[in-house]
Amino acid sequence: MITHDVIIVGAGLAGMRAALEVCDRYDTAIITKVYPTRSHSGAAQGGVAASLANSTDDSWEIHMFDTVKGSDFLGDQDAIEMMVKDAPKAIIEMEHMGCVFSRTEDGRIAQREFGGHSRPRACYAADRTGHALLHALYEQVMKKANKLKIYSEWYVLSLIVEDNVCKGVVTYDIKTGRMEVLRGKAVLFATGGYGRAFSITSNAFASTGDGIIAAYRAGIPLEDMEFVQFHPTGLYGQGILVSEAARGEGGYLVNGKGERFMEKYAKSKLELAPRDIVSRSEQTEINEGRGIDGKDYIYLDLRHLGRDKIIEKLPQVRQLGIDFIGVDCIEKPLPIQPTAHYSMGGIPADKDGQVIIDDKGTKITGFFAAGECACVSVHGSNRLGTNSLLDALVFGRRTGKALMEFAGNAKLYDVNEDKEISSVRGRIDTIINTSGTESINNIRNELKEIMMSNCGVFRNKDGLEVCLKKVKELQGRFKKAKVTDRGKTFNSELIEAIELQHMLEYSEIIVVSAIAREESRGSHARTDFSKRDDAKWLKHTLSYKGKDGGVELKYKPVTITKHQPEERKY
Ligand code: FUM
Repeated sequence: MITHDVIIVGAGLAGMRAALEVCDRYDTAIITKVYPTRSHSGAAQGGVAASLANSTDDSWEIHMFDTVKGSDFLGDQDAIEMMVKDAPKAIIEMEHMGCVFSRTEDGRIAQREFGGHSRPRACYAADRTGHALLHALYEQVMKKANKLKIYSEWYVLSLIVEDNVCKGVVTYDIKTGRMEVLRGKAVLFATGGYGRAFSITSNAFASTGDGIIAAYRAGIPLEDMEFVQFHPTGLYGQGILVSEAARGEGGYLVNGKGERFMEKYAKSKLELAPRDIVSRSEQTEINEGRGIDGKDYIYLDLRHLGRDKIIEKLPQVRQLGIDFIGVDCIEKPLPIQPTAHYSMGGIPADKDGQVIIDDKGTKITGFFAAGECACVSVHGSNRLGTNSLLDALVFGRRTGKALMEFAGNAKLYDVNEDKEISSVRGRIDTIINTSGTESINNIRNELKEIMMSNCGVFRNKDGLEVCLKKVKELQGRFKKAKVTDRGKTFNSELIEAIELQHMLEYSEIIVVSAIAREESRGSHARTDFSKRDDAKWLKHTLSYKGKDGGVELKYKPVTITKHQPEERKY
């Protein structure tokens, strides 16, 4: 059996940052479904937030308040305080590792405006910030090649947990079809988000919630799954991210009547209100017939920024428009629509990445989570742009340090390899051997459509119940799904089937949590309960896998330290 002290699943920012902390001292492995530099962290564009000492009149206190307010007061304030205090150090460390940030005239790290932030605090590398950070980290990881084993294109299919102790994972080598147990003293999940369940999404194809579902099936609850962020500017029809940096640099949103409609919805912040508010405003314009030509999109107009600024600050935004919809934003406005972008929910973890499964602080010994798959919760019900790269760097680093401490005293447990492998093999064989008639593609498309239309920017009880019924129908049809490729080498049809099974399972959790939460808060906008209700709902949702396979909901309190909830105005 393959054994390492520390097993990290996921090679995005959080996973690689944690690995760098721990690999000098302990035998560390990274397992990743996609080659590290293809991780979805690389898709983040506009910046990473920090109140740098040499910047304007910013401070961690102001960054903290902006984040708490942006979260619609659902964020845990002790964790937010820690993240924003650590932010400047996280940026400087990345700079010293070789990340090439854009500069001011006098050579300091440049910072731009971003939605919901009251100061320009987004440090950036043009509009390829995630890419720059990911590659800088990967360079450091490569320097540790003799200490850090990378299992690239290995897919983790099960988390081994017994009596609240985590012992390892079961993996599937995509290249060979071979299954292996990897045993470790500690396992860190940094497996990313789950936006692929929506038809319009900025998420990479790999963002199918594999980590959260492995945890859920191992008895670990998922926190705040109803909160899915819709980014206001996805390329129309594609969902591909058009960075908020475009609005940070001065871009306008315009409806079919040529109006800058954000004046109606967020008088002082306009296009730089937080994402939940901007996405709802766009959707309202579209729903009320003021989309472009009455259709379901609006315009992001950058023409007034001028060619030089667009080429210097927003080169990728421009190129994506040209490549994917044939529009050059120097000449024409970009058609855009809200796109599923970020998962606020995930595996409940504390400030050191330790997974905690209830409101009494019960731990899963040896199991850690960081980055988008974790819910610490620093974003509450709505994340501010640029706080996700920050979350990944800060909590990746902190969790790496926690792993160092843990691994020093931890035990390596026995694992029944045959039992673990045969249980996962059984699941795979069932998918492969079903001589069904249902098309995987049809099931996936129908899932994405219903999630987008009934569990998207706006929701209500009737629509969510229709959605839940449809998700269950699709789960039933999946049992008769047909996989034609029975091969072992790069069987992408099988991988897609497994990913779809995960999407069907977490979609049910999103919808069940959304039905239960009878209020509107952050990204969860209920037309039938349009107000935030702190008396009843200032609490986190915990979704457990019930004995009958259904979703069981419990709740836990929000940690409030410095800022009492107040009305959110922008
Ligand atoms: O719009 C963007 O550039 C995305 C950034 C983020 O999600 O933090």
